[in-house]
Amino acid sequence: MSNIERMNGSEWQEGVAYARGRFVEPGDAVIPIEDRAHQFGDGIYEVIRVIGGRPLLIDYHMERFEISAKAIKLRLDRSMDNLRQLVLDAIARSGYDDAQVYFQLSRGLARREHSFPDVPSHLSLTVRRMDDSVFEGARKHGLSMTWTEDVRWKYCYIKSLNLLPNVMAKQAALDEGYQDAIFVRDGFVTECTSSNIAIVKGQTVYTHPANERVLHGVTRRFALKYLREAGVEVREEMFTMEDLMQADEVFTMSTIIEFAPVIKVNGTDVGVKTTSSDSVLRRLQSAYQSQIKRNEH
Ligand SMILES: Cc1ncc(COP(=O)(O)O)c(C=O)c1O
Repeated sequence: MSNIERMNGSEWQEGVAYARGRFVEPGDAVIPIEDRAHQFGDGIYEVIRVIGGRPLLIDYHMERFEISAKAIKLRLDRSMDNLRQLVLDAIARSGYDDAQVYFQLSRGLARREHSFPDVPSHLSLTVRRMDDSVFEGARKHGLSMTWTEDVRWKYCYIKSLNLLPNVMAKQAALDEGYQDAIFVRDGFVTECTSSNIAIVKGQTVYTHPANERVLHGVTRRFALKYLREAGVEVREEMFTMEDLMQADEVFTMSTIIEFAPVIKVNGTDVGVKTTSSDSVLRRLQSAYQSQIKRNEH
């Protein structure tokens, strides 16, 4: 089904939605034109995976949300406990086992002017049912990618609503027959359009340092913690496309994709050891499944 057909159908109206302080129907017109998110992309967001009716790694998401808010001088206007409770209530209301929660905070509703308005910030949220089968394929069979210049600003650790470079790079990759694009800045791999990326050489895992040039992914954080506890050497160091092309394993990680191998870049095979049963990737995938099981109890 195309996106247009989806929009014309009823699918986008399903699920739970919250805006302007109350639960609403997902299709309701409740956001005024003069919302800073709408006018400027002036806000931040989070995406949390729900499995078995419970949010996964919610503490990490909440922490990052607070960091993003602080970084753009955005007032929360509610406690983090209150926000967490809202997320839990929305999930319960949806009744979904398998879903994703999206919430965003904009700088509020005010006449369009660049300077910050003195108004409350505006939180909106949705809970959508998720069909994980698409991603299951990527986890098993891997992804074919291209790479592109990372033209984003230098505050990529902020989970900002401004995703235009990511959207443009993703679509360009799809148009060329790839599934996603790897960003390269000043000759070094940063991340992908909506995931972090790591390579394995010998027994060592390399991923870009969690600085201002990449999003500090929740899944990345889970991975590094698990790997270090398991005694695997992890280096948060920059690497080049050449390193990537020669690596034993290449994989991406995000809330939605979880952990998936990258098996081709611009048509050339990469990460030849990725599929072996004792690969770092396979170990991570099974550690993640254990985390999910623990989360369900
Ligand atoms: C640019 C970018 N990097 C990395 C990630 C992975 O972050 P997380 O693991 O928190 O989902 C995302 C997720 O959307 C992203 O958009």
